[in-house]
Amino acid sequence: MQRFCSIILALLLAVFSAVNGCSPSDRAALLAFKAALHEPHLGIFDSWKGADCCHNWYGVSCDAESHQVADINLRGESEDPIFERAHRTGFMTGFISPEICRLTRLSSITVADWKGITGEIPKCITTLSFLRILDFIGNKISGEIPADIGKLQRLTVLNIADNQISGRIPASLTNLSSLMHLDLRNNKISGPIPRKFGRLRMLSRALLSGNQISGPIPGSISRIYRLADLDLSMNNLSGVIPRSLGKMAVLATLNLDCNKISGTIPTTLLSSSIGNLNLSRNVLEGKIPDVFGPGSYFMVIDLAYNKLSGPIPRTLAAASYIGHLDLSYNHLCGRIPTGAPFDHLDASSFTHNDCLCGKPLGVC
Ligand SMILES: *[C@@H]1O[C@H](CO)[C@@H](O)[C@H](O)[C@H]1NC(C)=O
Ligand SMILES: *[C@@H]1O[C@H](CO)[C@@H](O)[C@H](O)[C@H]1NC(C)=O
Ligand SMILES: *[C@@H]1O[C@H](CO)[C@@H](O)[C@H](O)[C@H]1NC(C)=O
Repeated sequence: MQRFCSIILALLLAVFSAVNGCSPSDRAALLAFKAALHEPHLGIFDSWKGADCCHNWYGVSCDAESHQVADINLRGESEDPIFERAHRTGFMTGFISPEICRLTRLSSITVADWKGITGEIPKCITTLSFLRILDFIGNKISGEIPADIGKLQRLTVLNIADNQISGRIPASLTNLSSLMHLDLRNNKISGPIPRKFGRLRMLSRALLSGNQISGPIPGSISRIYRLADLDLSMNNLSGVIPRSLGKMAVLATLNLDCNKISGTIPTTLLSSSIGNLNLSRNVLEGKIPDVFGPGSYFMVIDLAYNKLSGPIPRTLAAASYIGHLDLSYNHLCGRIPTGAPFDHLDASSFTHNDCLCGKPLGVC
């Protein structure tokens, strides 16, 4: 009888944990993930105990139907009470254990802004076919982007900014057909932007600044219909600005500053939907196209530190709004136009040119 009871009990427990708890293998994978990390100040892993990892484990949540772990969400900068009580932001060392690859239903993994996590992105992460969000921003992760990252067909967010990632952008990345947000800023990535980058049809933000990326800007980028924000600044890009960038439907921010981009400024770029344009610190030459008008609305036009010559375009005075204009350190010459968009600008917008004159510089 006693034996029978304990069998029933065991069965009940098994059913109960299958319905409500996490699977033992998910739990083991989470504990291995935790064991590879060290978080000395806040105790964010203190709640990671007991059998049921789906309930009350800080930053862990499970899929309502499969009861498998679906999200790991650990942010080192957050308004969670844990941080407010400690009066500090997070700090964590250790590495991201490949054991997370046993969480086969994982849909998002965010281990962000812990500043001290080292090691590499586990290569096996590309086997997590349900993964939508991969966010490791703000750590010290090194090594390369997994070569077969393109296998993650559901991935919408890839954010590994502010780490020490090196190597090239893998060609397979252009296979991420669901990708909307790509942030690789401030790493040590080198080599070219893949020629077929334009295959990322869902992309709306491509942020690659602060790396050592070289070679030309692929013209295929302009086929990304939804792209609103393209930041390639502070790299080692060369060649010309593709004309087609000025024909993009919703491109609002284009930052190409601090590269080695040459040639002239395409006319289309200044009569496009772009409202934030930074082309400063390149080797652009020729005249600034005279194509502004009442449709021109710029928060920023920064063309400083290039080799631009000729006059400031007269039509710029007809623009409906110019928030910040910087034409300094070029070879411009002639009278600075007058008009509403120019009234608030000071001399620093125009200094160090060949022979500009008029308000706010000296008289002509
Ligand atoms: C992209 O995916 C296709 C099939 O989906 C595959 O044949 C091709 O090799 C992949 N490209 C790269 C560069 O991985
Ligand atoms: C930048 O690119 C040039 C070739 O265009 C190359 O010679 C140089 O080594 C690169 N510099 C860096 C810092 O990558
Ligand atoms: C444009 O880029 C330069 C160089 O990276 C930077 O110093 C400048 O602040 C930027 N301009 C604006 C208006 O943000």
